[in-house]
Amino acid sequence: MDISNLRIGIVGATGAVGQVALNILESYHHPIEKIEAIASPKSHGKKIKYLDNYLTVKSFYNDILNSLDAIIISATSDVSKELAKIAKSRNVLVIDDGSTFRMDDTVPLVVPEVNGEDVEWHNGIISTPNCTTTPLVMVIDSLRQIQKINRVNVSTYQAVSGTGSLARKELIDQTKAMLSSQDYKVQIYPYPIGFNLLPHVDDFLTNGYTKEEMKMVNESKKILHDESISISTTCVRVPVEISHSESVQIEFSGEVEINDVVENLRTYSGIEVVDNITKNHYPTPLDSTDQDDVLVGRIRKDISINESRGISLWLSCDNLRKGASLNALQILNEVKIRSSKTFSKIK
Ligand SMILES: NC(=O)c1ccc[n+]([C@@H]2O[C@H](COP(=O)([O-])OP(=O)(O)OC[C@H]3O[C@@H](n4cnc5c(N)ncnc54)[C@H](OP(=O)(O)O)[C@@H]3O)[C@@H](O)[C@H]2O)c1
Repeated sequence: MDISNLRIGIVGATGAVGQVALNILESYHHPIEKIEAIASPKSHGKKIKYLDNYLTVKSFYNDILNSLDAIIISATSDVSKELAKIAKSRNVLVIDDGSTFRMDDTVPLVVPEVNGEDVEWHNGIISTPNCTTTPLVMVIDSLRQIQKINRVNVSTYQAVSGTGSLARKELIDQTKAMLSSQDYKVQIYPYPIGFNLLPHVDDFLTNGYTKEEMKMVNESKKILHDESISISTTCVRVPVEISHSESVQIEFSGEVEINDVVENLRTYSGIEVVDNITKNHYPTPLDSTDQDDVLVGRIRKDISINESRGISLWLSCDNLRKGASLNALQILNEVKIRSSKTFSKIK
């Protein structure tokens, strides 16, 4: 990734995703003078350590865009709507981490490894997928090259940081209180998340699925450009701080060899196969935290599907990193590589 010449605004710089975006820029030694850390007015003036210096957080004002080529918005949907409109009118590229524009037909929804070419038709805004969709479409894209995939069934095990920094605090506070038999508050989720599991991520819809589950279904089809693939999901919040995991069953149209499955996953950019059951090697959320790659393991035939047409696997992916901020920065890199338009002339 080489985006060191770009002037980037991180909107939501004090939040769970924004902080990781800054960490990634720091690891690339992105020049501090080419970064604006933007958050709500309550954070205005806060200092964030960056390399051997400090970034000063600013609340948004229109003219801050004059010094920027692109903004990455990791805030609220209201902020996305408002700032995207202003940025677009000033030819500043918007990469949005939220769900506001994902299913908008005029906005590309991009995981660079899968559909990087879609950045070419952007109209000023590009969206990143939901943090559970990204690792799933990478696995599907890798395996559909062996054989057409008919059906995918997924259960997720989602970390609390997917709900933002306040949810991380709630998990830790509840766990400490429960261990010392003290009272605790339940604010973010409908039930305690400490020592618990909640089969409920985002609001319920009339079809019995949650918004999160339908996001995975609809976003996957858009990114893969494949309306024919059947996808069903159950999303579960678990008492893990960072990294979402998924149990995935894939049904192909014909027979597949496990060796081919492993080989395709192993050679796919952005995936690391961690799969040696004789040594108890498999992906865990702790192992995938702070990793760029999606970790995939427990790869085996799905014995419930005839004629060797099915496989089961398990994955873990850092939801704040490849699930959000890293993917957003990689999209910027993709635009830089592919787009014939210059950053200052995006229309
Ligand atoms: N967490 C994930 O795993 C994940 C993954 C993919 C996508 N996303 C999406 O990324 C976005 C942020 O999620 P998060 O988990 O990082 O949330 P978060 O931890 O709650 O952080 C929210 C950020 O938004 C800022 N903000 C709020 N109002 C603002 C305003 N008026 N102007 C500028 N900044 C404002 C906050 O600043 P203050 O600190 O000043 O309030 C904070 O920096 C959401 O849209 C979410 O859906 C999250």
